[in-house]
Parts: sequence; C-alpha cells; structure tokens
Amino acid sequence: MKEIDWSNLSFGYMPTDYNVRCYYREGAWGEIEVSSSEIIPMSIAATCLHYGQEAFEGLKAYRCPDGKVRIFRPEENAARLQATCRGLVMPEISTELFIEMVKKVVRLNQRFIPPYESGATLYIRPLLIGTTPQVGVHPASEYLFVIFVTPVGPYFKGGFSTNPYVITRDYDRSAPLGTGCYKVGGNYAASLRANKWAHDQGYSCEFYLDAKEKKYIDECGAANFFGIKDNSYITPLSHSILPSVTNMSLMQLAEDLGLKVERRQIPLEELETFEEAGACGTAAVISPIERIDDPQTGHSYVFAKDGKPGPISSKLYHKLINIQYGIEPDTHGWTKVVIE
Ligand code: PLP
Ligand code: COI
Repeated sequence: MKEIDWSNLSFGYMPTDYNVRCYYREGAWGEIEVSSSEIIPMSIAATCLHYGQEAFEGLKAYRCPDGKVRIFRPEENAARLQATCRGLVMPEISTELFIEMVKKVVRLNQRFIPPYESGATLYIRPLLIGTTPQVGVHPASEYLFVIFVTPVGPYFKGGFSTNPYVITRDYDRSAPLGTGCYKVGGNYAASLRANKWAHDQGYSCEFYLDAKEKKYIDECGAANFFGIKDNSYITPLSHSILPSVTNMSLMQLAEDLGLKVERRQIPLEELETFEEAGACGTAAVISPIERIDDPQTGHSYVFAKDGKPGPISSKLYHKLINIQYGIEPDTHGWTKVVIE
C-alpha cells in the first residue's frame, strides 16, 4: 500500500479495502455482505438515479491515545436515518443492524484509521438507495444499504479556526415543509449553486435564512448554527434544518458547563448581539464563524474581531473532541469502543 500522509489528508475520498452491504428484497433485510469492490451494479432505471430515493449518514471512528478505536453516538445516526426513511418512504434499518454494520466496516478497514497524532479520522458513510427499475414515480420495492469508510482530514482547511460566511437570499437548500430535516442527496444538490456562489466571492460557505420569510436563521451550509451570548448557547429551531448529532451533543455539554441552552427561532438581527458564533457538524466539529456578511444590506456581523475562536466555542470544542478521543470521562455514555 502506498504510504498515506495522514497529517495532510483533506476531507476527500480514497478507496479502502472493504465495504459492507445489505439488500432489502421481498419486504425484508438480508444478511450482511462484505465487498471489496467500489462498484454498485444497478439498473439504469433504479429509483435512486431518477427520483432521488436516496439517504445517507455520516459519522467518524477515532483512534484514541489509549490505543482503542471509538465511534460516537451511532444510535443517533441510526435514528436519524430511520426518520429519513420514513420521510422518503423507504424501509427502515434497525439500530442494531446499523451499528453492527458500522462496527464491521471499521474493523475490516483498520489500516485506514488515521493515527491519533495526525488529527485525521476515519469517516463512515452509510448510504441507502432505492434500486428497483421503474419509471413510475413511486417508492422502490428493493433497496441497497451500503457502508463505506474513508480517512479524512479537516472539513475546512485550517481545522479549528474562524471562517467568513455569506447570507444567501437567492437560493434555498430546502422548502419549509420539504426534506431539509432529512439527510437526502437532493438537499445537497440544491445547495451546490449557493455554495459555489459563496466560494467564488472568497467565503468559506453560504449561510441560509428560513425559506419562507427570510427572517430567521436556518443553517450554515451543511452544518448547524449556534450563537453564544450572556452565558447562553442559542441554536435555531426549524423544520428545514438537519437535526445535528454534534449540535445535540454541544447543547448537553453547554448545559454541563453551566450555560443556559435555548433552541428557538433566531431573528436575523439577533446576530448583532452574539459574542461568538459557530457552525457545527461531524465533518467540521466546530467551525467558529469569523463574520457573516449580508450582501443585501452591506452589513457585516462580526464575531471574531481578532480572527480567533472565542473562549466558549474553544471550551466546547475541546470538551467534545476529548470525549470522542476517550481523553475525558464519557459521562453521557456517548462513545462505543469498536476496537480494544
Ligand atoms: N446540517 C447539515 C445539512 C448536514 O449535512 C450536517 C451533517 O451531517 C449537519 C447539519 C451536522 O450534523 P451532524 O452533527 O449529525 O453531523
Ligand atoms: C457533516 O458531517 O457535518 C457534514 O455536513 C457532512 C457533509 C460532507 C455532507
């Protein structure tokens, strides 16, 4: 195997040794199969290709300083995938099957789990697709659930450092009663133009307001938003954002640190009052926000005047990654050891 430069990995894709698969046929999930092929053979008329009957998940395996490999709250990813399945009329995968497949694929690809010191992790990507050949718009009767892994570095270059965002009013990633709360490919396809538009202007990412009124904060690209002020952790309550496992964990950790936690609509103008702000998700963990520009008004909401992450964001970040890496006690029982 070619040597992997663990410390310089990007958030990209490299093939690994194995993936695990499970097929849904005649109303039931079958046995777990191990594959060494990256290829999925399927009909040109498969529903996932035409009508986007597709869902995915994302979590990570961490090689820890005590030599063990841990995964973080996989039952929450299973629960979210089940919610997505209900949203797209796909058969649900039990939490038990989901976790068994995650553990199996991590163990099979041990040599791709980056060393602790590199700061890189093994990204785990579960994918569910409708495979029935048909042209009528209705749910498939056959599905493939596959999980592959790939070693990844930081989502944003520079890791835990501040980034500039820009408010988009010309594009929405999801409709008020649409699929924003599900992890389906269509939401990401819908975000590509806004993301390109933001990048073309030198921003790290686009920032979404609620699609209906453009009055409230929704999401920061493919991550949840949180703001900090007056010793409170404040994060949006919205049907069109993805319920983030990272955000859910940060809310608990904020409470543990003595902060008040508020999950509610956040009017755009309130950005002015935040002392710190961040984007959070599995890929980025916390990406502190330097500023959010509003091209319509020309206003810039600045959170990091010195360009550095704020003290509470830093505390939350370290607390979370120390739990994920088994460094601090896991008082909430969030981690699972996959390799002793
Ligand atoms: N929002 C969107 C749109 C995402 O794609 C993700 C990533 O999964 C998140 C938020 C963060 O969710 P999580 O913390 O579960 O990774
Ligand atoms: C996340 O893990 O936070 C993501 O947004 C995943 C992304 C690559 C779709």
